Amino acid sequence: MIGTDLQSAKRYLEAGNVVGIPTETVYGLAGNALNPDAVLTIFRVKNRPAFDPLIVHTDSLDKVRSLVTELPPLAEALAEAFWPGPLTLLLPKQPHVPDLTTSGLPRVAVRIPNHSLTISLLQQLDFPLAAPSANPFGYISPTTAWHVEQQLGDQVPYILDGGPCGVGLESTIVGFDTDGEPTVYRLGGLALEALEAVVGRSFRVQSHSASNPSAPGMLSSHYAPRKPTALLNDAAGYVASPTAGALVFNDYLPNIPTEQQLRLSPTGDLNEAAKNLFSYLRQLDAMPVERIYIQPVPDEGLGRAINDRLRRAAA
Ligand code: TXA
Ligand code: MG
Repeated sequence: MIGTDLQSAKRYLEAGNVVGIPTETVYGLAGNALNPDAVLTIFRVKNRPAFDPLIVHTDSLDKVRSLVTELPPLAEALAEAFWPGPLTLLLPKQPHVPDLTTSGLPRVAVRIPNHSLTISLLQQLDFPLAAPSANPFGYISPTTAWHVEQQLGDQVPYILDGGPCGVGLESTIVGFDTDGEPTVYRLGGLALEALEAVVGRSFRVQSHSASNPSAPGMLSSHYAPRKPTALLNDAAGYVASPTAGALVFNDYLPNIPTEQQLRLSPTGDLNEAAKNLFSYLRQLDAMPVERIYIQPVPDEGLGRAINDRLRRAAA
């Protein structure tokens, strides 16, 4: 059921159930992060492999401190600059954070989301919320309550409707290597340039692969539509076809009917493109087209994260 009643959401969560929650990035499938049974339910509903750990959401830096054994000065500076917001930090976990939540890893992923409804919910709960994106594993992330209802509605008793997500890309994940150097484990809704501007130096970006143990969720194929999907290299090399659909940046491709093409941002705005990305991929998947072509966007700002998702949608 979709609604805006915090008390219903709270009751389900306190009973160990899962609830769909809005954030500024994508919708999450939330459960009590400190209750292994609730965490198991998240994995089961999402059909998610147990090796892929969850992000823990709270509403204050003090609550974050209660989950971790250490908050290095650099992490604190990033938290001050970007929370609430689309940044996730990997930090050494306290023993009471269940191994199930972190898939047995020594670090826990934490973030304070920037959505007033979910912040109110978190303030009223006496536990943090583990929440992966609320999509079946491997499929496109949800950016409206209706996306969640369509795919997981029969298994999720309540979905809190906070409107369409303002950012539209999952959070940027940052960890610190043993030498203290910051590393980006997943490009996301916070641009690399913004991170680097705050600390005045560059970040390593870890590339994902078919199986990468330090960033378990970063599988090459993800965010995938069900239709055959191909990435266009420099707008060349596609087979013009009346039965194809296309996801393009600002201009239509020749030789594909325009009503089968969606423009991420007609004005060429990367923030707007990020916001439209996942719902447009869904729309194309639902159109009567046989295959989907996708065009990369400029590789700067949020464009880097958009291109990462596009590559994986087509992998
Ligand atoms: O914006 C977001 O981050 C959304 C909203 C709901 O907050 N959540 C989200 O969660 O994207 P999910 O489960 O789809 O992606 C979480 C990823 C994992 O796949 C993994 O790559 C990384 O976060 N992660 C989580 N915990 C980790 C850990 N302890 N060590 C390394 N990577 C971790
Ligand atoms: Mg996800």
